[in-house]
Amino acid sequence: MKAVDNSTETPLNTMVQAGIGADLAWVSGPVEAAFSAMVNGPVAPAVPAATIGERLSRIDLSAGEGLQSAIGEAAALMADGDLLSAHARCFGYFNPTPAWPGVLADLLSAVRNPQLCVVSHAPASVMMERKLIAWLNEALGFPASATGHFTSGGSEANATGLQVALARLFPGYDTDGAQALPGPARIYASADSHLAWIKLARAAGLGRNAVSLIPTDGGGRLDPDALRGAIAADRAAGAVPVMIAATAGTTNAGMIDPLHACADIAVETGLHLHVDAAWAGALIVDETRRPLLDGIERADSVTVDAHKWLAVPMGAGMVFVRDAEALSRAFAVTTSYMPAGDGVDAYVTSYQWSRRFIGLRLWMTLRTIGVAGYRAMFDRQFALADALRDGLVMRGWHIRNASRLPVVLFEDPGGRDSAALAAWLEADRQTWLGHVAFEGRPALRACITSYLTGPDDIEVLLDRLDAARAAVQPASR
Ligand SMILES: Cc1ncc(COP(=O)(O)O)c(C=O)c1O
Repeated sequence: MKAVDNSTETPLNTMVQAGIGADLAWVSGPVEAAFSAMVNGPVAPAVPAATIGERLSRIDLSAGEGLQSAIGEAAALMADGDLLSAHARCFGYFNPTPAWPGVLADLLSAVRNPQLCVVSHAPASVMMERKLIAWLNEALGFPASATGHFTSGGSEANATGLQVALARLFPGYDTDGAQALPGPARIYASADSHLAWIKLARAAGLGRNAVSLIPTDGGGRLDPDALRGAIAADRAAGAVPVMIAATAGTTNAGMIDPLHACADIAVETGLHLHVDAAWAGALIVDETRRPLLDGIERADSVTVDAHKWLAVPMGAGMVFVRDAEALSRAFAVTTSYMPAGDGVDAYVTSYQWSRRFIGLRLWMTLRTIGVAGYRAMFDRQFALADALRDGLVMRGWHIRNASRLPVVLFEDPGGRDSAALAAWLEADRQTWLGHVAFEGRPALRACITSYLTGPDDIEVLLDRLDAARAAVQPASR
């Protein structure tokens, strides 16, 4: 065997031996600058994407420049070129400012890099995640026999719900896939649901046509009568209804579908009920607000993203599943190259195989601030949303959605185009808003899900909206 000289070190070994203390000093500068920019700086990027592209074209990826240069370069590119979607005055996204304990958790798990695919490799980490999932299942109102796991995000969690539905209802699905169904599958979601369902239906081999978008009731909530009618009509036409995908907290407007009615229909028709509570599901940790999600406990599976309203770094979704056996059926596989596990290891119960310690981000945040910390955050955000609604009405804007959650849809009754107003605000760089279509008409959309957002930020938003209205001409009618 060829001897390997012990003194031959790679640059990566040298870096560790030099001690990470020095490295952290270089790193903490850009990290602190990023946090500070999220309160003090502009929201929208200063440098056009084309200029960033030119800067990137001059970088030779084959040549290492050392850590200090690499972190400085990456931080500068991101600072100059990216929208600060986690900014206190970015009202456009549900990817709020990550809490510091979750960022540290990410660093710790990245360094230790435990492998969570089998319990025997990382019993502590796996058991920490399982404890967290069991605690959240209880908060959700699921029985102790329910299961769940962390995912890359809401889309993977929803995809898991669909796989569980198919495995539960069609015994041949695990061997024959969609061919085990006696006809074309149907999944029902409201017209205002998150349309990842279309991608997920395609990926499951069911096709785009499997997704039946049920009309809403005029206020952004799924219409249960229309749902009942669609299921009956599909059955009569030879299609195979599989799953109702209700939304608790629509992306557009924060509306909560009638969960009890959906659960009743699922029972009547024998369908699987999945509730996509990707962002509003965070409220399960706050028992004072848990009633807003009443009925979610009747679901067969539920999606909640920790990386949305629970303020942990992105790539942290969760799926909760009532029927643990069906989850195993959907993902079971055996192979000799995997070490012995306990039968419910992540690699046999989920999409991912090698799996990072995603749950540590939520574990650390909860262990730092507890439920009381989250409740204080929700208290503030609900109050800020009320202040925004009041301020908008006082200044003559028209509120469009009747959500009790901190997402506010509004329009200019004077006929100014919502997209033009949003574009003006983006160019202004001080605030950032979404614009959406709600019940067939455009609207501006502001969600308040960053813990950094305070009363001053709401004042800035109201002020900039006034300026936008003064600058943008009403569309001719
Ligand atoms: C209701 C809802 N479901 C699913 C998703 C998709 O989640 P992710 O982006 O984490 O995959 C989103 C994203 O905003 C959402 O709002």
